[in-house]
Amino acid sequence: MEVKDIVVPYTRSKNKKRLYALGCAHYGTVHCLEHELDDMIYKIAHDDDCLGWIEMGDSAEFIVLSDKRSDTSGLADWMLTREALKDIAGTQAEYVAMKYRSIAKKCVGKISGNHEVSVQLHYNKDVQGIMCEKMGVTDLGYSAFLRLYFKRENSSESHLATGAFTHGSSGATTIPGKVGALVKFMDNFSGCHFYGYGHVHAIVTDIERVYLSCQGKNGGGRIKDFVAKGALTGAWFTTYTKGSSSYGERKNYNPTNLGCVVYEFEVEDSEVKITIRKA
Ligand SMILES: [Fe+2]
Repeated sequence: MEVKDIVVPYTRSKNKKRLYALGCAHYGTVHCLEHELDDMIYKIAHDDDCLGWIEMGDSAEFIVLSDKRSDTSGLADWMLTREALKDIAGTQAEYVAMKYRSIAKKCVGKISGNHEVSVQLHYNKDVQGIMCEKMGVTDLGYSAFLRLYFKRENSSESHLATGAFTHGSSGATTIPGKVGALVKFMDNFSGCHFYGYGHVHAIVTDIERVYLSCQGKNGGGRIKDFVAKGALTGAWFTTYTKGSSSYGERKNYNPTNLGCVVYEFEVEDSEVKITIRKA
């Protein structure tokens, strides 16, 4: 687990800031919806109120030829060269860094997914390290706290919003099961203001949990509650693709809700209000 702190300057008139959570791109397969992902990259690059974005892992497929999951019929066209096939994981890691080049400076850090971990553990290929180095971004490991310090310009006023993000690990195939995994993660790290959970290839943005605490001085304790917000952060992997069957299709998974999510922060009345929606 890692911790990353970011200072977010704001002014009274420009007090809305956005954080994108984008993951499960699965570059390298025919199931990755590259054109739509290109549009999202463009959108993030040109969003002037974007405080940053977090990469949520499973950036590419990273399944090498000797892996029992290997299926060359599902490789993207740009992978079908002698050079690329010699080093599938390395080629895909370089490709990811190239695709995110225009928004690398806005990236607050990169989460590692199970696909990154698997190729590291079984084939000793540190694709997460390659991508983080090429993009010049912080390696946030499998899960991380992200603390956003909103500081008003020309003022001592500041507000903290703490987030917790993980690639996730659930094998749930239904929306209630996937949301259950997110809620479990939120409750394990209760105390944060916003949460993001990848891996399950779904977008759900309206999960709220109310957490209670007892605050105040000795003899004057009062019960304080706050509402934390969480999201399943989506994917760009089509379960059903014309001309090729994905492992998701072969397991009869439900079609994927493609895309990613955006957290919007607004400092108002000495509070950071958070809303999450599909980006
Ligand atoms: Fe994934």
